[in-house]
Amino acid sequence: MRILGVETSCDETAAAVVIDGRRVESNVIWSQIALHRAHGGVVPELAARGHITAIIPVVETALAEANVSKGDLDAVAVTAGPGLAGSLLVGVNVAKAFAFALGLPLIPVNHLDGHIYANWLGPAGAEPSEPEFPVLCLLVSGGHTELILMKSHEERVHLGSTLDDAAGEAFDKGARTLGLGYPGGPAIQETALTGDASRFDLPRAWLGGTDDFSFSGLKTALLRSVEPYRTEAPASVKVVGSPFVEHVAPVYAPGAPIADLAAAYQEAIVEVLAVKAVHAARAHGAKTLALAGGVAASKALRARIVAEIAAQNVDLGFRVPAFEFCTDNAAMIAGAAFHRPGRTGEAIWEIDVHPRLPLFA
Ligand code: KG4
Ligand code: ZN
Repeated sequence: MRILGVETSCDETAAAVVIDGRRVESNVIWSQIALHRAHGGVVPELAARGHITAIIPVVETALAEANVSKGDLDAVAVTAGPGLAGSLLVGVNVAKAFAFALGLPLIPVNHLDGHIYANWLGPAGAEPSEPEFPVLCLLVSGGHTELILMKSHEERVHLGSTLDDAAGEAFDKGARTLGLGYPGGPAIQETALTGDASRFDLPRAWLGGTDDFSFSGLKTALLRSVEPYRTEAPASVKVVGSPFVEHVAPVYAPGAPIADLAAAYQEAIVEVLAVKAVHAARAHGAKTLALAGGVAASKALRARIVAEIAAQNVDLGFRVPAFEFCTDNAAMIAGAAFHRPGRTGEAIWEIDVHPRLPLFA
């Protein structure tokens, strides 16, 4: 089954063609990072306008790169939520029109399912082996931190989630505090390379006996640790002739231990994620630990999970999507639509956007 996937939930305009949820024929991503960088984060209105400009060329490029014509498609899949309402509307309406015009089924997909099913995608042109159930999935993105036990595609148990900030949000806010820019995860990863994590002892919220997480205390501890070195506070200034405010990064004294703090902060986040995920996998007899979401791109997190599996001496396969399938993309949406086509019966015109769509209703 050849599915065209469309994803516009946040700040990436993406389209992809995937066969049977595994074989990626094309994966086109138009990133808006440059558009939002000056503002220190995603500006919803700018994102929606950006999608409108990009979506048609992105879909056409995805079809061209897959070397297929519209008639070769069996279905269209689109992210219906969660995400920014204005951004989701662009993808859903384009997908609706496309599916209707071609007489194809339209499959609405939960963006979080997309991240999970990135683990079923093969590298370009190849088909991977199926992850073995039960799968313990650690889903870590800009908006979510979830532990999910998948006994099969249909039977899933929600084990825990963050009580406050998501892991990606913690990276983004931490990077802002340190004046490292946006998006925060890659900026912290890069800066941490030259830092010594052992110079700062930042707190870990273990929340023992639960599969939940908390990162807000860590964020505050980072702020306290860096404050003594600050010479100029962060600010928001109005951009002349524009309705937007620009984010101005804080300024730190020369020699401030920014790299050390970045390394200590990154280690604090990935240690809790890795230890708790491997522990949960062991407790529930999982055969596979699957990492998903934008934070799955973290090299430190990947390495820490591998180390933790060895340290806890568990017989556990580790799956992580290729880097291009970790952050937002449309191949994962086409993949999820194949494995969980739960709502295919819905009339095309009734499909709507759901900015707060939960993974577990
Ligand atoms: O899944 P995603 O692309 O968008 C959402 O659905 O939220 O995730 C984006 C998040 C951002 O918070 C970003 O800082 C984080 O993923 N991220 C990383 C890395 N690359 C992206 N976090 C840590 N290390 C990275 N290398
Ligand atoms: Zn995402």
